[in-house]
Amino acid sequence: MSRTITIRALKYNPNSKVSKPHIVEYKLEETDGMTLFIALTKIREEMDADLSFDFVCRAGICGSCGMMVNGKPTLACRTLTKNYESGVLELFPMPAFKLLKDLSVDTGNWMNSMSKRVESWIHSNEEVDISKLEKPIEPDVADATFELDRCIECGICVAACGTKLMRPNFIGAVGLNRVARFECDPHDNRTDEDYYELVGDDDGIFGCMSLLACEDNCPKHLPLQSKIAYMRRKLVALR
Ligand code: SF4
Ligand code: FES
Repeated sequence: MSRTITIRALKYNPNSKVSKPHIVEYKLEETDGMTLFIALTKIREEMDADLSFDFVCRAGICGSCGMMVNGKPTLACRTLTKNYESGVLELFPMPAFKLLKDLSVDTGNWMNSMSKRVESWIHSNEEVDISKLEKPIEPDVADATFELDRCIECGICVAACGTKLMRPNFIGAVGLNRVARFECDPHDNRTDEDYYELVGDDDGIFGCMSLLACEDNCPKHLPLQSKIAYMRRKLVALR
């Protein structure tokens, strides 16, 4: 039997001189298989054309739709409204990122600066000869690298992170996962000393308080805590 659900969303435009943060309540009929994407689109089409939120793929792939739902960061396109027994969903933008408007935050620029900070590219002195076949690597090593490469940069691990809230420059699980990804890639010639230079401080590998919220909430189920622990064990020897 269908029911009426209540969606309460923060509305605020930080670029407007007259806008003030406030909560707006919307009521709508729940339909079969309704996701938050469907619900918010219906709200925007039928009730409030001004409501801002981000979606691209609607399939948990692009990482653009992260938001706080009843206090937890989650991908809105993968969130079924029926899973909220009370029928009430309270939506806020993810903390830790610059608010653009309402539920929309700027994860893109944050991820870009994180990528530069951890030098998120292969470092190698070897000349690449594109006329030759790529150097093969062991399948299990390739699997380990691809596993960490599944990150979709949604920012949910950052929004869930207690350390990030206390340390604004903390690199977050997404940044530390990126370091772990290159550390296990044999194409990258960086040493532990090189990684220590990048993340060997309290804004990096030693800042994590191991509260586990990153891994608990990561929609791709990446092994964030074990990778952070692994990197910390390696780099603590250089302290
Ligand atoms: S590690 Fe997980 S939660 Fe963090 S950005 Fe990547 S996919 Fe999102
Ligand atoms: S819209 Fe792409 S992950 Fe949700």
